[in-house]
Amino acid sequence: MNHFLDIHKTDPAALRGIIDNAAAMKTARAGRTRGASDDELPLAGRMVALIFEKPSTRTRVSFDVGVRQMGGQSMLLSGTEMQLGHGETIADTARVLSRYVDLIMIRTFDESVLIEMADYADVPVINGLTDRTHPCQIMADILTYEEHRGPIKGKKVVWSGDGNNVCASFLHAAAQFGFDLTFTGPVQLEPEQEFIGLARKAGARITVERDPHKAVAGADLVVTDTWVSMHDSQSAKERRHNMLRPYQVNEALMASAKPDALFMHCLPAHREEEVTSAVMDGPGSVVFDEAENRLHAQKAIMRWCLGV
Ligand code: CP
Ligand code: NVA
Repeated sequence: MNHFLDIHKTDPAALRGIIDNAAAMKTARAGRTRGASDDELPLAGRMVALIFEKPSTRTRVSFDVGVRQMGGQSMLLSGTEMQLGHGETIADTARVLSRYVDLIMIRTFDESVLIEMADYADVPVINGLTDRTHPCQIMADILTYEEHRGPIKGKKVVWSGDGNNVCASFLHAAAQFGFDLTFTGPVQLEPEQEFIGLARKAGARITVERDPHKAVAGADLVVTDTWVSMHDSQSAKERRHNMLRPYQVNEALMASAKPDALFMHCLPAHREEEVTSAVMDGPGSVVFDEAENRLHAQKAIMRWCLGV
């Protein structure tokens, strides 16, 4: 049994296996309608709990569809409607769910909830996003990059904006997949030093560059995300926007990257804030491929977790 909690906690060979399996399963489905089952049904007879303590469009739909394509059944659970949201401990919830289901995916606030769920569950637990990380997203992003441009190893990835949970998982992936990562953003919104330190210790080349145009010079991939995440206080919105405006990904910024640089965003995007529509709908943008690849990457993650 394998938990999928974070990219830096997962063996690089396992990560590579997941990406390869995702690509193979995607190819095998080519030309099918979305609702059709896969030829192989590795999740037949399996039940998956999908717990959401925060909103979601992509994660909930892609996990749900992925389970069904592989012959399993899923149930969507909202944290507030469970006893979890009314005082039952995470440990007890994990013990109970383990008596009913074969796999748990959870999107939550504090990372400690995820860790405790994994500590007490007898079934695999998948991180569907916490305040600190979003590993499933980055697995889809690696799959997307490699589909368009080949191996990501040795490439230059630039994160422009808030050093948030999605950025943290890119930092973790830099060491595991062997790409260089440059962060450009305001000093107050840098990624956690612990994560930068971990990535460097694991051998990744991590650069922090305050000037966004200098940062994206020679970039193969430019990535951004919302300026206000679900866990950020709405009262900080204006202050964050003011700090982050210079890091908007627009055509002028993309012009400083390599001519064939790709643009990624995990979505949901706030057009004309962190990214302009000209970039998001432009030739280098692969944002909807990323969204699609959540499905394929997560199917491979679930199979790896269950060993099926
Ligand atoms: N990118 C992502 O995780 O989207 P959702 O919040 O819609 O799941
Ligand atoms: N950083 C964003 C990602 C959403 C998928 C958030 O946590 O709200």
